[in-house]
Amino acid sequence: APSAPSAPPVSAPQVLAHRGASAYAPENTLAAVSRAAGLGSTWVENDVQRTKDGELVVIHDDTLARTTDAARVFPDRAPWKVRDFTAAEIARLDAGSWFGAAFTGTRVPTLARYLRAVERHHQNLLLEIKSPELYPGVERQIVKSLGDQGWLDARHLEHRLVVQSFSVDSLRTVHELEPGLRTAYLGRPATANLPAFASFTDGVNPSFGSLSTGYVNAAHGFTGPHGRPLAVFTWTVNDADTARKAAGLGVDGIITNKPDVIRAALPGS
Ligand code: G3P
Ligand code: CA
Repeated sequence: APSAPSAPPVSAPQVLAHRGASAYAPENTLAAVSRAAGLGSTWVENDVQRTKDGELVVIHDDTLARTTDAARVFPDRAPWKVRDFTAAEIARLDAGSWFGAAFTGTRVPTLARYLRAVERHHQNLLLEIKSPELYPGVERQIVKSLGDQGWLDARHLEHRLVVQSFSVDSLRTVHELEPGLRTAYLGRPATANLPAFASFTDGVNPSFGSLSTGYVNAAHGFTGPHGRPLAVFTWTVNDADTARKAAGLGVDGIITNKPDVIRAALPGS
C-alpha cells in the first residue's frame, strides 16, 4: 500500500539570546555576547539608547540605576537617566557587579564596541531601538553606525541583522533610511492590520502569551518588503516546555535569556 504522505518539514525556530545570554552574564554587555556564543547561540538581542553627548550605548533601562553602580559613583544625580550622562561618565560605571562579583569591571558598551564584539563572536544581531521617543533622530544615527561598522553590506542585510522596536514610527524611519534593512515590530498588531505592517516591516515579535497558531499562520500569509513571509519571533521564553509550545505554534524565532535550555529543548535549532 502506498505510504501516507509525510508532513512537510518544519524548520526549528531560531534561538535568540535576549540582551545576550542574560541569565548567565550581565545583560547587554560584551560578557553576555561572549557567553551566548559560548553556549552555541547564533543570535543576540540588544537595546540601544543615547548619552547626553550623543554616543549610542547598549542598555535596556532608561536609567542607569538597576544595571550599573551609578548611584554610588554619582550619588547626587538621581534618577540617573541615560540621556543625562556623558559617554565618558557612563564609561566609568561598573555594569557587571550588580549581577555577580565575577563580572566586576564590566562596562556599558558603546554600540560601536558592541557591534565589533558581535562580529568577533560570529553572532547575528537583533538590535532594538529602545525608547526612541527620548532620542530624536536616533534611527538615523543607528543606521549610520551600522554602516560605519560594516553591518549594511549584502551579507549582513540578508542574513545577520534585524532592527526591532515597539515604535512604528521608528521602524518606518529605518525602512525609509535604509530600505535593505530588515525590521520587526515588537508587538501583536491585529490581524486586519498585518497588511499595513507588511508594507514596511519584515516581522512581528509578540510576547508569547499573546500568540496562537492562527495568528502565526496569519502573519506568515503576508509578504514583507523583502519578499519573505512576515517572520514571528516571540519573547521571552526561558523554559523547555514553553519553547516546545512556541515551536508548535510555528514561530520563526524564540527570544530567551537561556539559549542553552531552549536549544536543548528544540533539536535542530
Ligand atoms: O526582544 C524582545 C524584548 O527584548 C522586548 O522587551 O523589555 O526586554 O526590551 P524588553
Ligand atoms: Ca529588548
